[in-house]
Amino acid sequence: MTNLNKNTMLNPIYWDCDKDCLIAIDQRALPDKIVWLEIKTFDEIIEAITTLTIRGAPLLGVAATFAIYLGVRDYQGDCMGLCSLVEKLIVQVSATRPTAVNLFIGLRRAQEVCNSLQDKDIEVIEQAILDSAENFLMEERQRSFDIAKHGAVLISDDSNVLTHCNAGMLAVGGIGTALGIIYEAHKQGKINLVYVDETRPLLQGARLTAWELSYWGIKHRLIVDSAASYLISLGKVDYVIVGADRIARNGDVANKIGTYSLSLAANRAQIPFIVAAPLSSFDLSLIDGSDIEIEERDENEVLKFRGIRTAPESTKAFNPAFDITPVELIYAIVTEKGVIFQPNKLKIADHISTKDPDEIA
Ligand code: MRU
Repeated sequence: MTNLNKNTMLNPIYWDCDKDCLIAIDQRALPDKIVWLEIKTFDEIIEAITTLTIRGAPLLGVAATFAIYLGVRDYQGDCMGLCSLVEKLIVQVSATRPTAVNLFIGLRRAQEVCNSLQDKDIEVIEQAILDSAENFLMEERQRSFDIAKHGAVLISDDSNVLTHCNAGMLAVGGIGTALGIIYEAHKQGKINLVYVDETRPLLQGARLTAWELSYWGIKHRLIVDSAASYLISLGKVDYVIVGADRIARNGDVANKIGTYSLSLAANRAQIPFIVAAPLSSFDLSLIDGSDIEIEERDENEVLKFRGIRTAPESTKAFNPAFDITPVELIYAIVTEKGVIFQPNKLKIADHISTKDPDEIA
C-alpha cells in the first residue's frame, strides 16, 4: 500500500511480488517528501539500515531477515554453500546497528530456516527465508496493536503525554508501540496533548513522530529535548511513554539517547514512565543493561545540521545513539501479552514464560 489515504495504516516496508523487491518508505526524506524506494540488493538494504532509511527496533528485525533473502536469492550452488553464505551475510548485517536486539532475532530466523531445510532445494530454502521475513513483519504489526490495546488502559482521561524518538508505525508497521498506545488512548478520547521531543541529532521526533501525529490528527507540540524535564517539573506531563531497542533480563531498557534523562525527570515528578515493546525486544541472555552494546554513530551527525557545520572545525563530538534506563525508574513495561508493573527479573521471567521461547533472544 503506497498510497497514503487519511486514516489508513501505512506499511513502511513490504515485499512487492510484481517488482520482486522490497519497497520501503525513505524515512530520511520525511516529512518533506514521501519517497518509496525499491530495494533490490543486499548492498542496498545494508545502506538503508545504516543510514536510517529503515529504522526502529522491530522494523530493523524484519529488515534483517529481508537482507538475508536479498543476499541469497541469486545464489546458484549447493545447500552447504548456501548455509555458509548466510553465515557471512549475518556477520555483515550484525555490524550495521548493534543495539536493537530485534535485528539479531531477524538474522536468527533466517539462519534457522536455512539450517532446518538443508535437505530441500535451494529455491525452497530461499523462498522460506522470504516467507519468514514477511511473517515476521505481520507478527510485529499484530504485536503493536496488542501493545496499544494493553497500554491505553493505563492512560487516564484528559492526559498530556510526552514521547521521545519515534516508536510509531514507521518504526514497527501496524500502529507502533509507544505511539500505538498514544493513538489508541486518543481514539478513546483520553489524550489532551502530546509533547514530542525533537530527538537530536537525527530528529526522529520532529520529522517522524510529529508527522505521524499530524497524519492521525492528534494534537501535539514539538519541544527541544532539553525542555522535557522542565515541562515535567511544571506538572504539564502526566505520562512519559517510550519504545525500546533492547531490554535486559532484569528490565533495564536501551532506547534512544535522552530516554534516561526523561526517566529521571518522570521519577522526580512521580509520574509514570512507561516503556512499550514487543517481546522480541527482550534479550534474556543479558543480565542487565550494562551488557547492552550502545551504537556510536558518526560525529558529523552532531557537528553538522543538515550538512552545515555548526561547531568549530577543531571540535570533536561524541555521538552515542542510545542510553540505558535502569529498571527501578520504570513504572511499567507494556508488551503484546499485557503490562508488567514495577518490572524486575522475576516478573519479566514470569511474563515471558508462557511465550514460545524461540521468539525471545
Ligand atoms: O536510531 P533509531 O531511529 O532506529 O532509534 C529508534 C528508537 O530509539 C525507538 O525508540 C526504538 O527503536 C523503539 S521503535 C518501536
